[in-house]
Amino acid sequence: MNKKIACTGIKPTGAPHIGNYFGAIKPALGLVKDYDARYFIADYHALNAIKDPKKLKEATYEIAATWLACGLDPEKVLLYRQSQVPETFDLSTILMAFTSKGLMNRAHAYKAIVQANKEMNKDQDDGVNMGLFSYPVLMAADVILFDTDVVPVGQDQAQHLEMAADIAQSVNHNYGKQLLTVPQPLIQKSTHSVIGLDGRKMSKSYNNTIPLFLEPKKLRKLIMKIVTNSQTVEEPKNPDTCNIFATYKLFASEKQQAEMRKKYKAGGMGWGYAKQALFELMDETLTPYREKFNTLMENKDLIDKILTEGSIKARKIASRKILFLKKEIGVA
Ligand code: ADP
Ligand code: TRP
Repeated sequence: MNKKIACTGIKPTGAPHIGNYFGAIKPALGLVKDYDARYFIADYHALNAIKDPKKLKEATYEIAATWLACGLDPEKVLLYRQSQVPETFDLSTILMAFTSKGLMNRAHAYKAIVQANKEMNKDQDDGVNMGLFSYPVLMAADVILFDTDVVPVGQDQAQHLEMAADIAQSVNHNYGKQLLTVPQPLIQKSTHSVIGLDGRKMSKSYNNTIPLFLEPKKLRKLIMKIVTNSQTVEEPKNPDTCNIFATYKLFASEKQQAEMRKKYKAGGMGWGYAKQALFELMDETLTPYREKFNTLMENKDLIDKILTEGSIKARKIASRKILFLKKEIGVA
């Protein structure tokens, strides 16, 4: 029996962080055994924000090296750059014809910019390019192209995937048959929204991230910046409202979590201690991955080779789908 398909993408807009890891990368790698997996670097999505070619290129290598360092086996998973699979853009053009402008007007990311512009008395579309406005269509194309069943992502992508499902359904409805597989998000309950240094959702756009592969000294410095309340060392503390503990939980075993909880509740533990414990645990966990990542980043030819091979395999599947669709809609 054919396996179901899992597909997800990450934008190369900066160094990948622990929110990306726990929200998308780890759950995606967990699916590899039971699904046919297609994981990609959404470079054309990143172009909406990153106009510096060096930055875009470097971030693309960083995302690829991250997937590989975290254990992606390119023999088992298709790993590619979105821009190397141009069938995506055929499909995106087709899907445009089935996507109402009103749907795009309702996208959270676009609405947030409009709102901010209004508050600053600017034109409501100031700084909005068409790539950003139609972002959900391209994202729908990314996954629909491969007849994707499940898309492992963080909570922030839920709306985008509802839109992808809506668009796929409008196509199927128009032709009266199941031409497209309707994708479903797979959002991990415990890690759907990893908290950043300032207590908001961790995101490159908020500048509050803990990058996955920082050198130990820089990692420690960043962890020391986690925002806490002003409780004294003596006071008992509540782990469940604490940013440090929220991050600690992601890395700690059940036993380590229970021990740390005790220390919070007993009092006599200062924030400096909790931060140091978090640093030590993170550093110990991440060091082997960081070493692999650094080795890969020094071997970009190897990354290029893996991405090119991935895109060749991906295009074989994608071109069949596009040919089939073109015939069905009357343009081939
Ligand atoms: P960012 O918001 O930092 O720009 P991306 O948009 O590139 O990150 O996200 C890539 C993947 O990582 C998506 O699946 C997204 O849902 C997930 N992700 C991003 N931030 C978080 C977070 N704080 N918690 C959980 N998942 C996240
Ligand atoms: N929109 C996603 C993000 O901002 C990145 C992305 C692009 C994606 N295409 C995708 C995620 C397809 C899942 C599936 O993080």
